[in-house]
Amino acid sequence: MVRQLFIPILLLSCLVTTTASEAPMAKKKCQSRCGDIIIPYPFGIKKGCYVGDWFEVVCTSSTNQTVLKRINLKVNRIDIYDGTLDVQFPITFWNCGDEKTPQQNLSFKGSPFAFSENKNKFIAVGGGLASIISSKPDEPIVASCSSVCANVSVNTRCNGVGCCKTSIPSKLQAFNASFDITACSDQSSETDCRYAFIVKETWFSQNVTNISSLLKMTDVTVALNWGLDASKHENLGKSVGSFSLKSGKRKSTGTGYCNKSSDTSFSSLFTESGQLACYCNGSFEGNPYLPGGCVGKAPLP
Ligand SMILES: *[C@@H]1O[C@H](CO)[C@@H](O)[C@H](O)[C@H]1NC(C)=O
Ligand SMILES: *[C@@H]1O[C@H](CO)[C@@H](O)[C@H](O)[C@H]1NC(C)=O
Ligand SMILES: *[C@@H]1O[C@H](CO)[C@@H](O)[C@H](O)[C@H]1NC(C)=O
Ligand SMILES: *[C@@H]1O[C@H](CO)[C@@H](O)[C@H](O)[C@H]1NC(C)=O
Ligand SMILES: *[C@@H]1O[C@H](CO)[C@@H](O)[C@H](O)[C@H]1NC(C)=O
Ligand SMILES: *[C@@H]1O[C@H](CO)[C@@H](O)[C@H](O)[C@H]1NC(C)=O
Ligand SMILES: *[C@@H]1O[C@H](CO)[C@@H](O)[C@H](O)[C@H]1NC(C)=O
Ligand SMILES: *[C@@H]1O[C@H](CO)[C@@H](O)[C@H](O)[C@H]1NC(C)=O
Repeated sequence: MVRQLFIPILLLSCLVTTTASEAPMAKKKCQSRCGDIIIPYPFGIKKGCYVGDWFEVVCTSSTNQTVLKRINLKVNRIDIYDGTLDVQFPITFWNCGDEKTPQQNLSFKGSPFAFSENKNKFIAVGGGLASIISSKPDEPIVASCSSVCANVSVNTRCNGVGCCKTSIPSKLQAFNASFDITACSDQSSETDCRYAFIVKETWFSQNVTNISSLLKMTDVTVALNWGLDASKHENLGKSVGSFSLKSGKRKSTGTGYCNKSSDTSFSSLFTESGQLACYCNGSFEGNPYLPGGCVGKAPLP
């Protein structure tokens, strides 16, 4: 009696460890990582390995630098489960010395990428009213915050004195910031150093304990949402979920599915045609964007 009870448990734990490590992330014959960074399909390095040009990654083998080619930003992490990726994003500086980058054209309009409204914040240092401006005449300011004009080297947190922080709207695809310093005229001159950026909140709280240490940095980490246009990639959904697992006498099929959503609570980048997102079913894991990419753990006895 006792021995019979043990057999299925041993079989189960053995299956879990082997299948999980075999879960494919890239297409067959495609490089699945660049240094420490996993490059999961629909992203890829070589032609035929990514779903479309926007998802092409350049991996420089001498440095393991990983760059999203068309938007030319360095990638730190790609997440296929929550549909985000972390990139390095330049800080915009004003009057902070010649070696500091001034305003740049930071736009990826028309791409399937947007700043994640849930994971990021807009932060502006130096005092005054800071805004993210857009080129739309009907909505010239998309986010703004103001802080008391003060020298931030005496300040460690972004608490409204010399530094302010606010949320960003969804689907933001360009960053153009400006400062209105009319309220600062008494304490602070127009030539004071100011800087602004969008940043991933968890990265900021872990890495920036002292605001003035940002002056030594050129980039911060930003989380972008990525999406697949359902009208262009509907076949991707059809190819999902045919993996089968033979575990002794047991066989299960149908392990992943794709959803087409135009729901705004899902913050689709493709509101009209809908956004395609794929998932592995409950006890399966792997890459739901690949045919057979969801690898099964053994079903419970
Ligand atoms: C690049 O990544 C590979 C694999 O992780 C590693 O062996 C190699 O040392 C890395 N090269 C550099 C320059 O970091
Ligand atoms: C930012 O907005 C200002 C004001 O509208 C404009 O003059 C400037 O060209 C914009 N910069 C970029 C990089 O789009
Ligand atoms: C910024 O880049 C976008 C996309 O590459 C381009 O359409 C736009 O004209 C550029 N704007 C400026 C001010 O350079
Ligand atoms: C801020 O304080 C630092 C260190 O005390 C000083 O070097 C700098 O000149 C001050 N900046 C302004 C704008 O007062
Ligand atoms: C930021 O913090 C994370 C987590 O603590 C760490 O892994 C990473 O190396 C830090 N990045 C930098 C640029 O310091
Ligand atoms: C923050 O950094 C500045 C410049 O590096 C330094 O002068 C100041 O003492 C630091 N403050 C704290 C609380 O560490
Ligand atoms: C996977 O999920 C889909 C959608 O919820 C469902 O129709 C299908 O039966 C599930 N497959 C398995 C094996 O659970
Ligand atoms: C996928 O769509 C189905 C049907 O609309 C819905 O029940 C399910 O919750 C969706 N799954 C996810 C993960 O959004």
